[in-house]
Amino acid sequence: MISPLANKEVLLGVTGGIAAYKSAEVVRLFREKGASVTVVMTESAARFVTPLTFSALSGRPARTNLFDGYDAAISHIELSAKADIFVVAPATANLIGKAASGIADDLLSTTLLAVKCPVLIAPAMNCRMYDSPAVKRNIETLRGFGYGFAGPDEGPMACGEYGWGRMSAPSAVAEAAEAMLAHAGQFAGKTVLVTAGPTLEDMDPVRFIGNRSSGRMGYAVAREAARRGARVVLVSGPVSLVPPAGVELVSVRSALEMEAAVNAAAKDADAVIMAAAVSDYRPETVSHTKIKKGADETTVRLVKNPDILAGLGKRKRPGQLLVGFAAETDDQEKNAKAKLKAKRLDLIAANPVGGETGFGGDLNRLRLYGRAGHLLDTGVVTKAEAARALLDVIFDAMQGLSLK
Ligand code: CTP
Repeated sequence: MISPLANKEVLLGVTGGIAAYKSAEVVRLFREKGASVTVVMTESAARFVTPLTFSALSGRPARTNLFDGYDAAISHIELSAKADIFVVAPATANLIGKAASGIADDLLSTTLLAVKCPVLIAPAMNCRMYDSPAVKRNIETLRGFGYGFAGPDEGPMACGEYGWGRMSAPSAVAEAAEAMLAHAGQFAGKTVLVTAGPTLEDMDPVRFIGNRSSGRMGYAVAREAARRGARVVLVSGPVSLVPPAGVELVSVRSALEMEAAVNAAAKDADAVIMAAAVSDYRPETVSHTKIKKGADETTVRLVKNPDILAGLGKRKRPGQLLVGFAAETDDQEKNAKAKLKAKRLDLIAANPVGGETGFGGDLNRLRLYGRAGHLLDTGVVTKAEAARALLDVIFDAMQGLSLK
């Protein structure tokens, strides 16, 4: 099988960590798979492994300096323009921090800031550094930009400690690069509408009825669809997440606001993926002033919100794919299949809530059902992996491949 890396231009950024020696093997693997590789190193990386090693392995001069070469003034722009993928391996905490803040003070970081192609980061650092709040926040920011990550892995550190922070094996870095390239452009020309997060239903200026949805699953789906080349409209309830790069974000609060935004965007959408946890009810009246404490008991009268997805099901255009989510505590399969039918969906993703999966955390387990029954069980995976599995199925469905 031809590798997605075949005939691709790879930029490999190498930063200064002990794992830099592993990148020599990464270059070799990329070339074995048919890619052309240009290595850009930081000055500290060149203290761990010489540029000569990378020049010999890549067959091209390894670049270290922003000001070397006759065309130095534009070299980082030229490098960035022709790359199909930018892989940074190993990526130190310093590089990750600079990338998250847009700091560009050497050839590698200026080039990284200028690229438009997919970016894959293979972090490598001491386990306590990897565990620091700053690094965690920076990685979250980069994920928000749409960057992919390979590792890090758990294991013994060069310094003798044990933990998370080892650079992934070169073969895993190469596989992650192949996976990113394999799907790039898959959804080119398609519009995907994704909803995410909770809706909040106000009672008065200080109180609301909400739910525990964090928006992570929907954001992961939006990010993956954008990465695969779709135009993505993300209608999001209130969440505290960085919006993925390149998506059109429409922020809403209540179910009625979400309904209006979804109906407007659905007109052009080839696929609608409703990952939002929409409030089924809202207070009948919203007080404009704070409701004061009074009797020992009180009643809030709730009225039903529109079912946004069922509304789309009724007006579905031929060729438009409708995907629902069903967060269930029990009877997952039965409930999910009933919702698929009632809302006239093409696909439904049942996910268990409670335990290690579902609202708030980074893990999820999707069981996908089509009209003819069970399609896929992802097992417990990260939400990014669940999003990839879901989009693989959606892609097949949009190609007209049958949903068995
Ligand atoms: N949904 C919607 N509008 C609503 C309620 C739900 O569009 N008012 C969508 C959700 O985004 C999800 C799917 O319908 O994709 C199923 O939502 P879920 O809350 O699991 O089911 P409900 O239909 O609300 O049924 P119940 O709460 O009784 O389980």
